[in-house]
Amino acid sequence: MRVKEGKAEIEVDEGVFYNPRMKFCRDFDMLVFRAIKEKEGRVSYLDALAGSGVRGIRARLEAGYDSAFNDLNEHAIANIRKNLEINGINAEVYNEDANLLVRRKYFFHIDIDPFGSPAEFIDSAVIKPKYLSITATDTAALCGSSPSSGLRKYSAFALKTEYYPEVGIRILVGKVLSEAGKYDKAPEVLVSFAKEHFYRVHLRFKRSPRAVKEAYRSYGFFLHCFNCLRRFFVVLGEDFETTCECGKKLTPIGPLWLGDLHSYDFLEELSRVGDLEELDKSVKGLTERIMEEVNIPSYYDLHLITGKMGVSPPPLDRVVKSLREIGFQASRTRFSGTSFKTDAPIEEVYRAVKRLK
Ligand SMILES: C[S@@+](CC[C@H](N)C(=O)[O-])C[C@H]1O[C@@H](n2cnc3c(N)ncnc32)[C@H](O)[C@@H]1O
Ligand SMILES: [Zn+2]
Repeated sequence: MRVKEGKAEIEVDEGVFYNPRMKFCRDFDMLVFRAIKEKEGRVSYLDALAGSGVRGIRARLEAGYDSAFNDLNEHAIANIRKNLEINGINAEVYNEDANLLVRRKYFFHIDIDPFGSPAEFIDSAVIKPKYLSITATDTAALCGSSPSSGLRKYSAFALKTEYYPEVGIRILVGKVLSEAGKYDKAPEVLVSFAKEHFYRVHLRFKRSPRAVKEAYRSYGFFLHCFNCLRRFFVVLGEDFETTCECGKKLTPIGPLWLGDLHSYDFLEELSRVGDLEELDKSVKGLTERIMEEVNIPSYYDLHLITGKMGVSPPPLDRVVKSLREIGFQASRTRFSGTSFKTDAPIEEVYRAVKRLK
């Protein structure tokens, strides 16, 4: 099968993985990679689980990355070589277990894009690079749909809340922190998002014991009440209540990352390198949504709230505006079209919605 994606033209051989539905993810990556390249100059990049090689080829053609390719599957290797030739690219191609390669060789930026869970690659992938990009498609393990898988893969416990995609990304970043911290490396989230069946996070590391200590100030638990929807977050070492003010119990979810899920500086760099008008509409939409989002953990789903109140939902923008008018931070969220983020406590949220009904 012959495919054109971005500036790449590739052949996909039988038995080699290529998912056209991940084009959005790769389109967004190109913007991210261009911003990194602009800042850093030369970037050696390993497409560690390359499949057909489409991502690394686009990274070379569209972001000027020095891409290298790896896959354990020999058919994928033959396919990658063919695709490099079609696109006129000279590059290193490895046929190794990704975990061994990333321990043996240095790359400035490593990309982990596996089938399912990235958990088995994280410990090795955090050791050397400055930048790490990770895809996870085991969303059930991360977001609370399958708590026992979450424990096995990520040493974290989750139940499904209305802000489950955010919980998933926070557990994934928390796992990166716990693996990287032992090498004195602290992750900063440059940008992250959840879409359909996958999560994608782009991270930059800072190597210093002090930075790791600081990062652990953003590592802890959500405490969630499934009755009244109240939620708190606490960092490790803090005392916390186990009973909600409504009398029901608070369920701890985590441990997970409670820090930022994007860097505003990096987002500005993204808008500098990409003429947003030129991009696919959904890439532009996601970038804008993230830019306007307030950096507050968790979010409320308007329909769940109005369902509990027995009223019909007012327009989301009016709820956001009304919370801002009474002095709280509030915004829409990248994670859901019917939800909003705010630092207002649950009583104020119910009150604001009631005023608008
Ligand atoms: C989801 S596919 C990669 C898709 C590709 N990155 C893309 O954007 O189209 C995962 C790939 O990882 C390879 N793989 C699985 N385990 C591996 C390992 N331990 N080391 C290296 N490659 C591995 C598989 O052969 C498969 O080609
Ligand atoms: Zn409660």
